[in-house]
Amino acid sequence: MVQKREHWGSHWGFIMAAMGSAVGLGNIWRFSYAMGQGGGSAFLIIYLLSVLVIGFPVMLIEFSIGRRAQTDAVDAFKKIAPGTPWMAAGGLGVLAAFLILSFYGVIGGWSLRYSFEYLTGGITGDSTDFFVGFIGDTFSPIFWQFIFMGLTIGIVYLGVQKGIELSSKWMMPILSILLVGLAAFSLTLGGAAEAFAFMFQPDWSAFTDPSVYISAMGQAFFTLSLGMGAMLTYSSYLEPKERLTSSAAFIIVLDTLFALISGLVIFPALFAYGLDPAEGAGLVFMVLPNIFEALGGIGTLAGFAFFILLSMAALSSAISLLEVAVAYFIRKLNMSRKKVTVIVGAIIFLLGIPSSLSQGAVSITIFGESFLDFMDSFTGNLLLPLGGLIMVLFVGWTWTKKEVLHHGDIAHNPLGPLYFLTAKFVAPAAILVVLIMGMLNWL
Ligand code: PHE
Repeated sequence: MVQKREHWGSHWGFIMAAMGSAVGLGNIWRFSYAMGQGGGSAFLIIYLLSVLVIGFPVMLIEFSIGRRAQTDAVDAFKKIAPGTPWMAAGGLGVLAAFLILSFYGVIGGWSLRYSFEYLTGGITGDSTDFFVGFIGDTFSPIFWQFIFMGLTIGIVYLGVQKGIELSSKWMMPILSILLVGLAAFSLTLGGAAEAFAFMFQPDWSAFTDPSVYISAMGQAFFTLSLGMGAMLTYSSYLEPKERLTSSAAFIIVLDTLFALISGLVIFPALFAYGLDPAEGAGLVFMVLPNIFEALGGIGTLAGFAFFILLSMAALSSAISLLEVAVAYFIRKLNMSRKKVTVIVGAIIFLLGIPSSLSQGAVSITIFGESFLDFMDSFTGNLLLPLGGLIMVLFVGWTWTKKEVLHHGDIAHNPLGPLYFLTAKFVAPAAILVVLIMGMLNWL
């Protein structure tokens, strides 16, 4: 049985899906806590630099490989460079899809639970107790993770056009409106000046801390869905003639705006209530409910808007994670999309259970971090940069300059030569330096 390969219904659909992949828990949950722990502006500056110098070339490279190969992340390398070890990047990508989605589904579940709470009256009393009690429970978080994974599986099951594209075309505009509305509201709460200072006033001492570099670069990879073949897989559903450069630029600018605006939702509210930005991974779940409660009825509404937004953002990213693995196994096992989606989705759900349990029910730690936190930093700060490094080296050093520019659809753009230099030298060198810095710091 030879299956016909699916394609996007429209270019706009592709852009919405790719933006849906990029905009996710990374922009809101992960960005705010990583920035809170990384000292605010120092983290922000290194993150923005990484997005520009590494994020843009890596995204265009993933797009180039995907559109050219018209196949999944592993097969793409086999097709373009048969018999070479470059396909390791694809293998790492499929592995990363399993690992990231396993814990991503847990947080997605928390977010669904919170949406539900605000729909039915809000969270009152001590929000830290509520959060710690909830995530430390054995069954309840797994139940919500199950629901979240069920929705993810449902969308991917319906296919590229009827599932991924259609849901993204609906969710992304709603999400954008909710976010802008919430930011405007949050800025009226009185913590705006302090939030601006925290986000935009550089604290030079933080630049000497090597861990800030690795977490800021990891954040750039994670938030842009780079280094694991998600963008590669999505662009493999493009017709070969479709434009790439402007799409990459558009997605990067919007994803960055989303992170900055969600910073403007979270930090002003946080400072207005005298709370601590370095709270860690539970930041949005522990800190924001205090604020929503203090605001009364409008707070319940704002809380619902916020967590629905977070859940939709998470869902549109989770489907891209699942799709990387599903696309691979559909071809590899020559099985139908429906079967593969259910099986792979169920395995990933099961893989996520230790992450969920590690939040209090059972003590599961690796290198002193909870299993979930370890998975998060291991995949984001190590696996994705490594995958990205292999992909840029592959394109920069095995393709001719003409091929790089042609497949990146940037040959007739004045920025073409600059892109080529960045992709060949600057991006791989920067990734390597930060990775080595991170290793040395860790040892
Ligand atoms: N970019 C997503 C986010 O910010 C996460 C993600 C990472 C999705 C890697 C796909 C691939 O939440």
